[in-house]
Amino acid sequence: MSKRITKAVIPAAGLGTRFLPATKAMPKEMLPVVDRPAIQYVVEEAVAAGLHDVLMITGRNKNALENHFDRMFELEVLLKEKGDRTKLAKVNESTDLADMHYVRQGDPRGLGHAILRAKMHVGREPFAVLLGDDIIDERDPLLDKMIDEQEKRNTSVVALLEVEPSQIHLYGAAAVEKTDDPDVVRITGLVEKPDEADAPSNLAIIGRYVLRPEVFDVLEHTEPGKGDEIQLTDALQEMAVTPEETGGVYGVIFRGRRYDTGDRLDYIKAIIQLAVDREDLGPDLRPWLRDFIHTLD
Ligand code: G1P
Repeated sequence: MSKRITKAVIPAAGLGTRFLPATKAMPKEMLPVVDRPAIQYVVEEAVAAGLHDVLMITGRNKNALENHFDRMFELEVLLKEKGDRTKLAKVNESTDLADMHYVRQGDPRGLGHAILRAKMHVGREPFAVLLGDDIIDERDPLLDKMIDEQEKRNTSVVALLEVEPSQIHLYGAAAVEKTDDPDVVRITGLVEKPDEADAPSNLAIIGRYVLRPEVFDVLEHTEPGKGDEIQLTDALQEMAVTPEETGGVYGVIFRGRRYDTGDRLDYIKAIIQLAVDREDLGPDLRPWLRDFIHTLD
C-alpha cells in the first residue's frame, strides 16, 4: 500500500489587482468571505482531505498570511483575561490548523513557475495544489475523490467543471475521453484560456490538482505561454500526451457547490451564497434578501 498523500501547495503570490484599492496593502487572500479570510477556507479544505502539510507560495506584501496562521499572543491574553471563550476560539481556529510552510515566488512568472518553487519541499511524492480563488463547499468534498483516483490510477488528476461555453476563455480547457466512471475522464489535451471557438470542450479546470512529482521535471523546461507566463496547464498538456514517462492526466468532474472569489462580482455572490446557509446569519439574511429583491424592480 502506498502512503496517502499529505502535502498541499497553495499559490498565494498574486497581486490581486482586481480588488484594488482593497488589496493595495493587504493580500487578496485575506479578503473576508463572510467572516473568514478566503485563504482559511482553502487550508481547511486541504486539512479535511488529510493534507496537514501546507506549503504556501507567497511574495512581497503577504506577511498577513503568515500572521493569520500563527499565534496572536496579545489578543489571546486579552480575550483570556476577559473570559471571552467564543472569540478566543475564533482567534485560534486558524492557528493549529495545519503544519504551515512558506516560500516566496520571487519573480512573478506565472502559476507554473509558482508551483516549481515547491519542488524542494514536496520531493518525489504526489501532492495537491489548491488555488485560493476557488472555494469548494465543505459539504461537497472533491479532493478525497481526486486523491483516490490519483492513487488508483497512478496519474495526475485535475478537477473539471462544466461551464458555459462563453466562459471557457477564463480557464484551462480539457479534451477528454470517457472512462467506466461517469465522474472520471482521461485527459487527451489541455489548452490554457482558449477562445470559445478553439476550446476542445466546455470542461474547465477549476483550481484543484493532485499531481505526480514528474510535473516538476516538465515545468523545468516549460516555456512561457499564455500571457507570457509559465503555465501549469501547458506542463499538464505535455504530461497528458506522454503517459509512459509522466503518468498521464485524468480529470474528476465536479458537480458540487463551488464559489469563485477571483473577481468582484463572483466574490459578492460567494458571500451571499455562503451566508444564507449559515445558522448564525441565514435566518435573518434570508427574509431580508427576499424583501430586498422586491425593491430591485
Ligand atoms: C488558473 C489556471 C487555469 C485554471 C484557473 C482555475 O488561472 O491557469 O488553467 O482554469 O486557474 O481557477 P487563473 O484564474 O489564475 O488566471
